[in-house]
Amino acid sequence: MLVLGIETTCDETSAAVVRKRPEGGGEILANEIMSQIAEHAAYGGVVPEIAARAHVDYLDHLIRRALAGAGVALGQIDAIAASAGPGLIGGLLVGLTTGKALAWAAGKPFVAVNHLEGHALTARMTDSVQFPYMVLLMSGGHTQLLEVRGVGDYRRLGSTIDDAIGEAFDKVGKLLGLPYPGGPHVERAALEGDPARFDLPRPMAGRANPDFSFSGLKTAVRNEAARVAPLTKTDVADLCASFQAAIVDVIIDRTRAALRLSREDGAPPEALVVAGGVAANSAIRRALARFCGESGLRLVTPPPELCTDNGAMIAWVGIERLERGLTDSLNVAARPRWPLDDRLEARHHGKA
Ligand code: KG4
Ligand code: ZN
Repeated sequence: MLVLGIETTCDETSAAVVRKRPEGGGEILANEIMSQIAEHAAYGGVVPEIAARAHVDYLDHLIRRALAGAGVALGQIDAIAASAGPGLIGGLLVGLTTGKALAWAAGKPFVAVNHLEGHALTARMTDSVQFPYMVLLMSGGHTQLLEVRGVGDYRRLGSTIDDAIGEAFDKVGKLLGLPYPGGPHVERAALEGDPARFDLPRPMAGRANPDFSFSGLKTAVRNEAARVAPLTKTDVADLCASFQAAIVDVIIDRTRAALRLSREDGAPPEALVVAGGVAANSAIRRALARFCGESGLRLVTPPPELCTDNGAMIAWVGIERLERGLTDSLNVAARPRWPLDDRLEARHHGKA
């Protein structure tokens, strides 16, 4: 089984071809990714209109390259999958419309993919992880703890009530004068810093409900920075180290709370899968490895290029859904907001 995947939800344009291995898992035949970081750097964040235009400029080219790299013609593809949300509407329309047009032209089934499902199922492509398992998604746009029970069967255990974790790293980087995106720079500066110099809060720590909050932590960093300004290189390093230490404590505390919930509800996960750009952070990885060791969980960390946004994860969801007969009509709409556990969300709003 061979699927073409298209990803355009945020600031990465990507097209990929993935084949299902007979023994399970996926083989990535091509995964073309064009990051727009340079286009957005001057603005210190993703500018939706610039992103949409860049997707228009790059996508056709990347699809052609992915097919050529995989050595297959469109006619040999079994289905076309494109992310349909959640994300920025301009980019979503570019990827979704392109995917539908290709599916129509080639007479192939179409799968409209929830981008979060892509992150959630990647570990099955790379490591053949079995259900149920837990996913900790930490990116510039999302911070969620998910219970993955099956394809299309997800439970969001917790998520952020304000900023995403990557956003918190980026805002702290910005206020300390580090380049965009701040995450990797904060990590590098923290290596030289004293994590105990600033006493920063651990928002939500100790609560049973595994939600996250980062805006208060960011504000605390800003206040400390203002108090000791003008900042020396040592001050910046100490602020980064103290901030990162608080982040690490919060992640472990929240993941522990999620695991407790999951175990209480009788769906004990065997593995913890991490995803998202922030999963590249070594201090966070080390702490999670220790936590998983103590908790009897297998820690699965897909390679960094599959933790961040990519077309291969979208193609993989296409494979998983096609196998189960879960395809979509060409009338399907883009959904800027699209929680993975739709049913819960509907109940939340008193609809279902
Ligand atoms: O998954 P990703 O590419 O998602 C989005 O496009 O949202 O993640 C990007 C985020 C950025 O906020 C970036 O600063 C953060 O991941 N990041 C890191 C590290 N590397 C990337 N944050 C902390 N430490 C890192 N080493
Ligand atoms: Zn993502």
